[in-house]
Amino acid sequence: MGIATEKLRLSEISPRIMQSEIRSMTVECDRLGGVNLAQGVCDTEVPSVVIESAIKAIHDGHNIYTRMDGLTPLRESIARKMAHYNGIHVDPESEVLVTSGATAGLYAACLALFDPGDEVVLFEPFYGYHVNTLLSLRMQPKAVPMAMHTWEIDFGVLRAAITPRTRAIIVNSPSNPCGKVFSRAEFEKIAALADEHDLFLLTDEIYEYFLFDGREHISPASLPGMAERTITISGLSKTFSITGWRIGYLAADKRWLGSIAYFHDLTYVCAPTPFQYGSVTGLVELPDNFYLQLATEYQAKRDMLCSALQDVGFTPSIPQGAYYVLADVSAVPGATAREKARNLLAQTGVAGVAGTAFFTGGRGEEIMRFCFAKRDEDLQRACDALRSYRI
Ligand SMILES: Cc1ncc(COP(=O)(O)O)c(C=O)c1O
Repeated sequence: MGIATEKLRLSEISPRIMQSEIRSMTVECDRLGGVNLAQGVCDTEVPSVVIESAIKAIHDGHNIYTRMDGLTPLRESIARKMAHYNGIHVDPESEVLVTSGATAGLYAACLALFDPGDEVVLFEPFYGYHVNTLLSLRMQPKAVPMAMHTWEIDFGVLRAAITPRTRAIIVNSPSNPCGKVFSRAEFEKIAALADEHDLFLLTDEIYEYFLFDGREHISPASLPGMAERTITISGLSKTFSITGWRIGYLAADKRWLGSIAYFHDLTYVCAPTPFQYGSVTGLVELPDNFYLQLATEYQAKRDMLCSALQDVGFTPSIPQGAYYVLADVSAVPGATAREKARNLLAQTGVAGVAGTAFFTGGRGEEIMRFCFAKRDEDLQRACDALRSYRI
């Protein structure tokens, strides 16, 4: 046998990148046959034109790699959509990248733009993948807490979080998990700080159509002077309910896009070809009304779940967008949010996620996140189970 070494080991970062709490709640929920409001898998209908077109693409032999940055008609339809909906004007030949989901878009952007030790500021509560992406690249996430329940930003705290090592700010609007939709005024202040400190702004807009009570989606890249420093990341996972297809995209100034595309190529080669075809069809054929209906449909789901949470005494923070709600579960037995989440699942069959998954510094112990991207009958079953819960 060889000489004993300590080389057969995990990397130093591995123990810090834990299995997401969301996945473990999903496993436990499946074991108990409960209703899974833990994971953001939308099991709502996929538009049939999108399905038919992907199936046709497979039959037509579109089963090989595409160009590294994605199919030309898809990049063109993304550029048209961004001009129409987001007010962002990009060249589909050099400023749009089709990615294996928004997740891969963020990963490739970070690989291309940042170095180990660079700091990136993000808002708390945060989406765990944002933090873990930074950590796995040996970068330093810096969380700026938003005010509990109102999710207002303290711009003094934001400014104080920026140091000479800061390279970027990450924003996510509409936001997972708190449902905040950033206002134009907030983005203007964030943009001014990014400009003052010469930072990139990475914006995850995956929930851009999930807007409630008439709220407007603002893309920060559309603000004056922000196009060059903003990397806009979005995708079709949520909009077309195709989380398993892995179709996302990223738009950035051509100064950055080529390099981001190389890193995406290195890790994913390209997004799945037949699903790129299905996505073009969806983007080209679905009318504006499809997206408006999405918002209406999800607002009804939000109201259904929030009213059940209210009834059982789990005061919800009413989300302005996206499809999650944070609720106060302090009345559920358990010393920690994780224990509370497990107790609630055991007693009601409803899985949610412990709030601590979205906060640092011991915050979030009284909170759970519930996802309402569910078929109405499943959501109703979850609401009934919650209402019958006796504390
Ligand atoms: C904020 C946010 N960004 C990105 C994603 C994942 O997007 P994709 O499926 O396109 O990788 C999610 C999924 O839950 C999300 O909540």
